[in-house]
Amino acid sequence: MGLNAGFGEALEQEIEQFKRDRVYKRLNYLDSPQSARVQMEGRGEILILSSNNYLGLCDEPAIVEAGIEGLRRYGAGTGSVRFICGTFTIHRELEEALARFVGTESSLSFVSAWNANEGLTGTVVAEGDFVVSDALNHASIIDSMRLAKAISKCTTAVYKHGDMQDLRDKLRGAADARRRLIWTDGIFSMEGAIAKLPDILEIARAHDAIVLVDDSHATGVLGKYGRGTAEHFGVVGEVDVITSTLGKALGGAAGGFVAGPEALTDYLTQRSRPQLFSNALPPTVAASALAAVRLIEAHPERVQKLRDNSRYFREQILEAGFKPLPGETPIIPIIVGETSAAIQMSDALLDEGVFVTGFGYPVVPQGQARVRCQISASHTRDDLDVAVRAFKKVGRRLNLV
Ligand SMILES: Cc1ncc(COP(=O)(O)O)c(C=O)c1O
Repeated sequence: MGLNAGFGEALEQEIEQFKRDRVYKRLNYLDSPQSARVQMEGRGEILILSSNNYLGLCDEPAIVEAGIEGLRRYGAGTGSVRFICGTFTIHRELEEALARFVGTESSLSFVSAWNANEGLTGTVVAEGDFVVSDALNHASIIDSMRLAKAISKCTTAVYKHGDMQDLRDKLRGAADARRRLIWTDGIFSMEGAIAKLPDILEIARAHDAIVLVDDSHATGVLGKYGRGTAEHFGVVGEVDVITSTLGKALGGAAGGFVAGPEALTDYLTQRSRPQLFSNALPPTVAASALAAVRLIEAHPERVQKLRDNSRYFREQILEAGFKPLPGETPIIPIIVGETSAAIQMSDALLDEGVFVTGFGYPVVPQGQARVRCQISASHTRDDLDVAVRAFKKVGRRLNLV
């Protein structure tokens, strides 16, 4: 008996094809905390313009210390799922803080937002229900719907990105469904666009639908106090369910949550399979995330700094002759056309000491390949100026400006 050689060979062949298609991803190893500038193995100091560390909390001393304190007080692991003996008081504190922050009655943590989304749709949807999703929603929402469909035999549909008429039409076609649910990202990660939440809420009311918003890129980012898409539009308390990550603005470690009515989080505690069959969020992560929420509540100027930095970078990059997608979020995609151009641009920028990821077809539509810049409150003006200078230099060399 030995290893199955054919298995490895088949995977290697596919990997070779990824390389030929130029979609093979090489990992860059960092040897310092995630921050505006990092130590990248083999390259030295690199300016990061590709991180979800929107508020610069990954290496914030108070957040790191809170994690260390959590580790000392609660130990390294939960050793169990929530309902057996894996629930710690720090989970309750975190969940209360998150609910207060996003403006819901209750919240429930998961080990990732991916898990939260899968645990939500797959659990609350039943046969006869209808779930409709924006075409540009995150992969975790898409997979959560696939799972829900396989488990419950619900029906699903996709509406054109941001197209409210299409959303209405899809809901009209499901008037006989037992329940209608609308799933949307708060901020769409590849575009940086914000969901038309007030319209979605109005349409939901007209069609007796439930609104689920994944605010992973918006928590800590949108709204004066960083409370997310609902705060941005002045509709805090009006969204049925909000999911989000602890792995971006809220310290960037890992973890996610579902926030909504108490009955929902209780139901998920009873029935959601990631809750029932997977260990709870590690206490260290819970402690850091709790400190992150408290820090944002005490220092909304961080959120303002993020907004100022994003506006500044957008203005400068426009002035340099690039074509960023219009918007007002820290996600600033710069369209360069062909996939090869995006990859070349990203590689050349890295050689200049600036790390920005290039995305091409099929992740984004053909001809709309882009480098996606993500701005952080931890960037200084000097960092942003250095980045713009590198963009100009590389853009000229590649005939993009
Ligand atoms: C909209 C959205 N939802 C969910 C996730 C997954 O978050 P996590 O890393 O917590 O699983 C992401 C991360 O990229 C995201 O952008």
